[in-house]
Amino acid sequence: MDAHIEDIARCEGQTVTLKGWLHNRRSSGKIHFLTLRDGTGFIQAVMSKQTVGEEAFTRADHLGQETSVVVQGVVRADTRAPGGYEIDVTSLEVVGESHDYPITPKEHGVDYLMDRRHLWIRTPRQHAILRVRHEIIDAVRDFFNGRGFILADTPIFTPAACEGTTTLFPVQYFEDTTAYLTQSGQLYNEANAMALGRVYCFGPTFRAEKSKTRRHLTEFWMVEPEMAYATLDDVMELGEALIVAIVERVLERRRTELETLERDVSRLEAVKAPFPRMSYDEAVEILKKEGLPFEWGGDFGGTDETVLSQRFDRPLLVHRFPSAIKAFYMKPDPARPELALGVDFLAPEGYGEVIGGGERLADLDLLLQRIKEHDLPQEAFEWYLDLRRYGTVPHAGFGMGIERTVAWICGLEHIRETVPYPRMLYRLYP
Ligand code: 4AD
Ligand code: MG
Repeated sequence: MDAHIEDIARCEGQTVTLKGWLHNRRSSGKIHFLTLRDGTGFIQAVMSKQTVGEEAFTRADHLGQETSVVVQGVVRADTRAPGGYEIDVTSLEVVGESHDYPITPKEHGVDYLMDRRHLWIRTPRQHAILRVRHEIIDAVRDFFNGRGFILADTPIFTPAACEGTTTLFPVQYFEDTTAYLTQSGQLYNEANAMALGRVYCFGPTFRAEKSKTRRHLTEFWMVEPEMAYATLDDVMELGEALIVAIVERVLERRRTELETLERDVSRLEAVKAPFPRMSYDEAVEILKKEGLPFEWGGDFGGTDETVLSQRFDRPLLVHRFPSAIKAFYMKPDPARPELALGVDFLAPEGYGEVIGGGERLADLDLLLQRIKEHDLPQEAFEWYLDLRRYGTVPHAGFGMGIERTVAWICGLEHIRETVPYPRMLYRLYP
């Protein structure tokens, strides 16, 4: 019977066939201890000379790390084993040999590993991160689908900027014009929301980030909900519910992976609604009191975000930023027009902004004015302006960066491990 390591508990006492790779091996005279992996997990297989015979036992003597193997054996419960079970091997067949595997159990430098990312992802830690990533994405989809949001995809080649012109990737292909890789699906999302009510898009987005930080990728995945007839408050509530749902789901289904990552799960268990909220004004007061050289009107840097979020055990919502430091599409606060009705969700433990969003500018004249102030080409936004010409309504939405979320939930030091093949200023290979 074919089996997967993650389901092995159901096969106790049975003879199973495992198809995978040899992760590690040590021998003591008449016994080989083989650590096998099959993509779903890792398990120890015990091969004794007595059971498999002299010849098969000797053949297994020289198997290199990452040799692909098909192993048959009996599943035995063992409280000392990491997953609670071991395999007593009855036969082993080599599928593909592997010699001088470049990633050994010893320590390697980050650049060395990044150059071999296609192999690095086979190790227990990377394996655990990618499985948590999968769970987070699955939780996100279930969350929106379960609430009646329609998935409506937005284009990757776009004629205009969404998040400022300094981080655009130009593409020369279309006649008489430069296309740009999308920074965010938001503008198209707004059109989709006017057609479908509540929508989301979920895809890769691109930022030509010139800075080399542990929080920035040049290509990252973002999920973006957008709602017609909605306000800033609706966005804060939806984002809060989304994060709670994601954390609950990972705690429920990915305990093993969090253990592999040595994640302090009590920090995740604390993430419950309601999340603390404060205005930009209040945040500035706190930064000043903490002695940081911050002036009203500035944008938060990584350190500012860390200082603010470290005061709480769950994400912090900072709302109503100065319009001058925010995107052109943000609605001004009617009570104080110099402020934008936007919100940033700052993850705890210094992981920075995971969600950014707010209420959109629904008024045609003011939007036209903002496009001019931001020096954006009006022709490229005519279709977007149409949304204000033909039945404009208050609407709001946000974007959540998947990799930032994975980094936080897994407790990683750097965002480069959150995606199979990270793209950064100095990283395009493999
Ligand atoms: O705050 P941002 O720039 O917001 C937008 O793009 C809006 N148009 C979204 C919307 O309202 N529909 O980006 C949203 C999130 C950030 O909070 C962060 O999690 C992530 O995207 N993000 C990045 N993640 C990794 N690397 C980068 N360079 C990122 N830039 C933003
Ligand atoms: Mg932002």
